[in-house]
Amino acid sequence: AMSYKEGKFTNLIDEPDNECSSPEVRYSVFQNPFKRTQFCQDPFKVATACLTAFCLILLMILVATSAHSSDQDSPSSAAESHMQKGSANVTDLTEELQGVKREKSELEKELTQLKNKITELAINKQYLLHFITLKYLVFLEATTAPQTTPAPTKNPCPEDWKHFNGSCYYVSEYQRSWSDSQTNCKRQGGHLAIILTAEEQTFIWNLLPRGYWNSYWFGISDEKVEDEWHWVDGTKLVKSFWEDGEPNNHGNEDCGYIVKTDVLSRVATKSWYDAPCHMSLPWICEKLVSS
Ligand SMILES: *[C@@H]1O[C@H](CO)[C@@H](O)[C@H](O)[C@H]1NC(C)=O
Ligand SMILES: *[C@@H]1O[C@H](CO)[C@@H](O)[C@H](O)[C@H]1NC(C)=O
Repeated sequence: AMSYKEGKFTNLIDEPDNECSSPEVRYSVFQNPFKRTQFCQDPFKVATACLTAFCLILLMILVATSAHSSDQDSPSSAAESHMQKGSANVTDLTEELQGVKREKSELEKELTQLKNKITELAINKQYLLHFITLKYLVFLEATTAPQTTPAPTKNPCPEDWKHFNGSCYYVSEYQRSWSDSQTNCKRQGGHLAIILTAEEQTFIWNLLPRGYWNSYWFGISDEKVEDEWHWVDGTKLVKSFWEDGEPNNHGNEDCGYIVKTDVLSRVATKSWYDAPCHMSLPWICEKLVSS
């Protein structure tokens, strides 16, 4: 059995060699290359073919991997560009941040300036308020002062004398004749009242108390020439305030007097009467403020 096996093996090994070594077979190889080539070729040739194939496969793999790597290269470069962009953006952002920081510090400076301005304005406001209050107080003093100071100037007349339009007026408590009344007035630096205007007449009228027939001498008479009335200073009577029907010279009445009764309808501008000059009546003196 062993020999058979050996013989078979040797046969198997030897056969191709034998076959291929024969010129016929070699010839047939040229004729039909697909016939029994695997077994008919030189073992070196097979090895080289295998190596070449291997090399080809390796090359193909290399090419494929290189292609792959080149394929992968573009995304990586994209990432790189992304990275570059990112870094660019980072620098942009840092620049922006620095700008913002600069702006912030500027704004802070402005804020402190504004705060200073506010405090300054507050101080100014306080100062102004003080100033206004001071001015107001001065103004108040100025407005209240004339109310206190004119008091002496409002009545520049002696006690019991009343002031009107630069003159002082006095109503006597006693009664005298017209000429004695005038003498009394002269002794006090004045004269019996000379009444030139309705205002003056009304002022004097308001000084007089009401009564049944309250009568007061004033500075008019027609003693020298009947019906020619003159004031005590010698001037002629122009404007008069006689009661209706007066003067009537009833029994030689040459001196003028004013009457103020209880009758409220009677008015100041119709209050003059004439009476005998020797009658005893109270009187009204007038003198200038300066005298
Ligand atoms: C970089 O900034 C630009 C605009 O300045 C923006 O369009 C882009 O998306 C940013 N890139 C990255 C990677 O953030
Ligand atoms: C005031 O006095 C002046 C001068 O004596 C006189 O001219 C004037 O008419 C008087 N005014 C009144 C209202 O009596």
